[in-house]
Amino acid sequence: MQILDGKSCASAYKDRISAEVSAAILTGKRKPHLAAVLVGSDGASETYVASKVKTCKEIGFESTLIRFPETVTQEELIEMVDRLNADSSLDGILVQLPLPKHIDADQVTLRIDPTKDVDGFHPGSLGRMMLGLPGFVPATPKGIMMLLAHNKIDTTGMHAVVIGRSNIVGTPMSVLLSRNQNPGNCTVTLCHSKTPDLKSFTLQADIVIAALGKPEFLKADMVKTGAIVIDVGITRVEDLTSPKGYKILGDADFEPLAEKCSWITPVPGGVGAMTIAALMQNTLEAWKRNTHA
Ligand code: GUN
Repeated sequence: MQILDGKSCASAYKDRISAEVSAAILTGKRKPHLAAVLVGSDGASETYVASKVKTCKEIGFESTLIRFPETVTQEELIEMVDRLNADSSLDGILVQLPLPKHIDADQVTLRIDPTKDVDGFHPGSLGRMMLGLPGFVPATPKGIMMLLAHNKIDTTGMHAVVIGRSNIVGTPMSVLLSRNQNPGNCTVTLCHSKTPDLKSFTLQADIVIAALGKPEFLKADMVKTGAIVIDVGITRVEDLTSPKGYKILGDADFEPLAEKCSWITPVPGGVGAMTIAALMQNTLEAWKRNTHA
């Protein structure tokens, strides 16, 4: 078994981005600038956004964090998105999900200017991805493709089983893996909560993408020997022995699976690190379009 190390791969991408930005700044260009909107104080969202802001600083990007209380109205949030859209000093805008139940997240996402949609959640971005046109690809599936490419994993002809059909991970992942490109060229099965006998599908998989958000759901007896396991799960589970009071678990039962797999991503240090690297790559691309006319 080999570890698919997201942390070191993300570092390599971030170093490359940082070098590109430093060189451009020497020629008088402004820094790339990402705005993040965070509503409420959900622990996991706080951690993700803090990590995005920290990474911006590390690689020479400007960042602006806009916080709203849980009670913010949809109108107030949309007004803020409009303000950010109109701000020409900004290259990328993200609104951290999930949003409180009284807010229609689709309406907020739809409002983001597609040229600043570095999360790739706007229908325009998803449509372009479907058609194979250049555009912003959602950060988690994009990061997984970057991780496979970096490790020179040739997925051509593989059977990929994706578990989970979310708009931000499972569905775009299934599209990217089926594309005529490498990584890609897979035969893809998209499984979800209504799939009967899920194990009969995962046992056929050369590559399993576990993106259902259920800690340690994927067990060793559900995959064949030599399979590749990509674990997208990041769930906080109470752990009174840890100083934080919780630990982070992925969707895969790591230790027993690791003995059976050819490659496996750890949690933490796997897909999560790549999601941030991919977001930074999207922001870099937006900035280049804005400043390298
Ligand atoms: N919530 C979980 N993942 C993501 C992400 O990639 N972007 C945003 N905006 N929210 C998320």
